[in-house]
This record gives sequence, C-alpha cells and structure tokens, in this order.
Amino acid sequence: MRVKIMFILGGTSARTIAEDISKELQQPLIEVTYKRFPDDEFYVRILDDVKGEDVLIIQTTYPDTKIVELLLMQDAAYEAGADEITVALPYFGYSRQDKKFENGEPISARAIAEHISLHADYVITVDPHKDHLLDFFNVPAYSCSAVVEIAKYLKEKDVDFVLAPDKGAKKRAQQAAGIIDCEYDYMEKIRIDGTTIKIKPKNLDAKNKNVAIIDDIISTGGTMAKSIRELKKQGAKKVSVACTHGLFVGGAKEKLLSAGCDEIISTDTIEDEFSKVKTAPCIAEMFLKISQ
Ligand code: R5P
Repeated sequence: MRVKIMFILGGTSARTIAEDISKELQQPLIEVTYKRFPDDEFYVRILDDVKGEDVLIIQTTYPDTKIVELLLMQDAAYEAGADEITVALPYFGYSRQDKKFENGEPISARAIAEHISLHADYVITVDPHKDHLLDFFNVPAYSCSAVVEIAKYLKEKDVDFVLAPDKGAKKRAQQAAGIIDCEYDYMEKIRIDGTTIKIKPKNLDAKNKNVAIIDDIISTGGTMAKSIRELKKQGAKKVSVACTHGLFVGGAKEKLLSAGCDEIISTDTIEDEFSKVKTAPCIAEMFLKISQ
C-alpha cells in the first residue's frame, strides 16, 4: 500500500509556521516558486508532484495582498490535482467585520471565508475573534488556541495573576491561569461620574504584583494601554501584555511602552519583533485531530 504524504505549502506570510509544522508532523514542505510580476501581480508555481496527495496550505490573510496569494496557492494545488486541501489561517484577517454594524456594509469575514472555501476541504484557524466566524466557511472549519503556548511562556515569568482586558475575554485569562497555576481576573469599568470611567481588576489587588494581561488581538494597542496605565497607577510592579495576533498598528508599540508596559508578547500568527510564542504546535495538533 502506498503511504500518502501530506505536503505543506507555506505562504509568504507563514513561512516560519510552515517550517515548524513540517518538522512537527515530519512531512515535507512543497517546493514552490513565488514572484511578483512587474505590475506587482503575484505568481506562484508548485514544483513538486502533488497529484493525489493531501496538501496543507498555511497563510495568514493579512494584509490584503496575502489573501490573493492564498487564493492563488489554493488554485495551484487544485490544478495540480491535490486530493484534500486543508487551509490553515494562523490569523484570519477581516474577522472583526463579522456582522453588519451599519446598513450598506459587507460582512467582510463571510466574504473572505466564502472565497477561501472554494478550493478547501477543511479550514483551521487560531483563536478566532468570535466562534461563529467558523460558520462562514462552506467547508468544515476548526479553531485551535494559542493560549496554552502563551501560558507556558508566561509561566517562566513569575506572573502573580492573569487579567482579561474585559469580562468577555475572561475565559482566555482563566485558561491561561490554569496552566500558569495562578489567579485570574478581568478589568472592570467603574463609572465615577458623568465623564469619568475608571478601570480596575474586578476582585484582585494589583499592588506590588506582576500582572499579565491577555487578549486575542492587539491592534492599535489602545485597549491594553488603558489597562496598563491604570494597573501601574494602582501600584502594579510589572505589567506584561500578551496576545495571539499582534497587529501593532498606528504606533501601538510606542503607546504600550509609554503606558509603562514591561513586556509585549505575541505569537507568530503575524510575524514581528514580539513573536515569542509559536503556533505550530496547536495548528499541527488540530490538523492531526481532523485528519483521523
Ligand atoms: C476586542 O474585541 C479585541 O479583543 C481587542 O481587545 C481589540 O481588537 C484590541 O484593539 P486595540 O489594540 O486597537 O485596542
């Protein structure tokens, strides 16, 4: 009986993750050529023979150009006669426009998901902003979580407690705290008067504590900066921020540092200087689970 190989195709936004998953699963990376035409259009060519083989394509759909790259990689795998195509989206860009907030708007996450579904048999994503995003794909879609890996990193940092920036994100903090073996809480908004709102941990006292705030995304850093500033005012010794998806746009890094942040931690779903945590273990684990 011929043993089926699973080929891994790492897009330009997920090369490190693809290499890590290839090592983790002990399956080969597809040899591929990428280039850009003079007018900047993308070109991809799969050089291995993947006819009848399963292919795992890994690509973060951020920024916009990476979406087109992904669609072309999927088409190339389909044209090459791949059997099952699994698409792993370490970060699913456009997922925050997951509904119509105003009349006349698109449901962007659904629009992108439907296009990705065209040549995919399965989709895996990491820490989606909302669970219902998985329903936008027209094929079975699964999520895995980087919280375990983030918590393992934080465990080495003597964190006294983990905080969610709001009540909605409490579950993530709870999960991380379970692994770190520490307490958890969330930042609660307290209205002081008509114009003043104070935020503080709901139950725990930050004074002299080493605190880590954990969220799914840091974008402009505004949410985290507000919490850091308040925690420092309340006497926190150290405040670190950790997220799965570090977009760090609009001067986020400076905003976080000037608020008094002691360490910024993100995963490699979007590669940057703060990508200290790998997501290959959780993606590979989910891939193995769905391929059984
Ligand atoms: C909100 O629902 C998310 O979990 C993040 O808290 C938010 O997207 C972070 O955005 P920013 O860094 O711009 O405050």
